[in-house]
Amino acid sequence: MDLSALIFFSVICAASTQAPIVSVEPKAATVRQGESVSFRCQVRNSVPPVNVEWTRGNNQVLTDNIKVGPEGSVLTVSNARPGNQGQYRCVAVSSAGRGSASAVLNIKHPPKLRLTPAGPLLVRVGDTVSVQCRATGRPRPKLTWKRQDSTLQLFTTETNDVNTIQWPAIRPEDLGVYICQAENSEGVSEAKVEVFVEGEPGAPVASVTPEEVTAVEGQTVTMECQARGSPPPVITWSKLRAPLPWKSREQNGVLILENVGRQDSGQYICNATNVHGYSEAYTQMEVETPPYATCLPDQVRLQPGDTLQLQCLAHGSHPIQFTWSRVGRASLPPGAQTTTDGKLLIANVKAGLSGTYKCVASNHIGSSEALASVYVKA
Ligand SMILES: *[C@@H]1O[C@H](CO)[C@@H](O)[C@H](O)[C@H]1NC(C)=O
Repeated sequence: MDLSALIFFSVICAASTQAPIVSVEPKAATVRQGESVSFRCQVRNSVPPVNVEWTRGNNQVLTDNIKVGPEGSVLTVSNARPGNQGQYRCVAVSSAGRGSASAVLNIKHPPKLRLTPAGPLLVRVGDTVSVQCRATGRPRPKLTWKRQDSTLQLFTTETNDVNTIQWPAIRPEDLGVYICQAENSEGVSEAKVEVFVEGEPGAPVASVTPEEVTAVEGQTVTMECQARGSPPPVITWSKLRAPLPWKSREQNGVLILENVGRQDSGQYICNATNVHGYSEAYTQMEVETPPYATCLPDQVRLQPGDTLQLQCLAHGSHPIQFTWSRVGRASLPPGAQTTTDGKLLIANVKAGLSGTYKCVASNHIGSSEALASVYVKA
């Protein structure tokens, strides 16, 4: 026996009639794919000779990257792979009986994905279609579905390690490439499925340009809808959950919105219809506005020793910055405090603070100012 074996098999003679007491160190280990790990088996209270053996849970065989040291004391998994995950048991047998202890090995590994059905999918308009994305990986990966070149929300459901994308009734415009992505701390992986939709011959397929538009208040915005189909589809525009702005007009599939305001922000829908069906396409519009500022209060009378508090309010596109100044002076009085949400505070005011105070609210489109007059009794 070499020295290390002596350490692992500390035999206690007084207990020579007892079965071996076995312990394993560590009891659990987590390593990355490709790393190595060892478990040590210690046997006490036993009469030699003791036979020590390592086994795998479920009677699996030890694969070729798992080696057991001399006399069974150390089990080493080198270049760990996902299949090595599981339970390992050290069993010691002597003439006095048998003892065992086990350890659990977890292998961290990047996600692997499987799509069912794998695709490409050829489906008919109106079919109910779903694709399951199943992932393995440790830690458990986060699964998401997206459509290539699109940020539109998809209908998905998730249970355990499966994320399913579903179309209750597929439409011609659903044709495209869909990507399932799985991500954990060890990596990211993607799988794609291509969906081909066989429509009624000549069913409409609509598309809009642009799909997203940001405008500044007062501008004119145009959106164009194009539709394939036979007979040529009729195009109508509408606004999601609201009527079209009254200043809008439609011309050959083009929607023109004049002098847009903040309330015109939202989703616009092009609907192309013919005898074979209809197809919808969406444009998202955001209208940005310069700030409009007011002071609250805009007039204030104080006694010496009072605290002055003014609030500058503004609506318009965020973020909005506020700047306070005193009209006709280079700077605010000493001790004045301002906050990022537009407050001006001066404690313990004196008569000399009377005057006009100005707030300027600005965002990336423009700015607006508001005045407040302050009078402190002499
Ligand atoms: C588009 O037109 C079809 C058929 O006329 C209709 O059923 C559908 O509700 C319309 N969609 C919208 C958003 O107006």
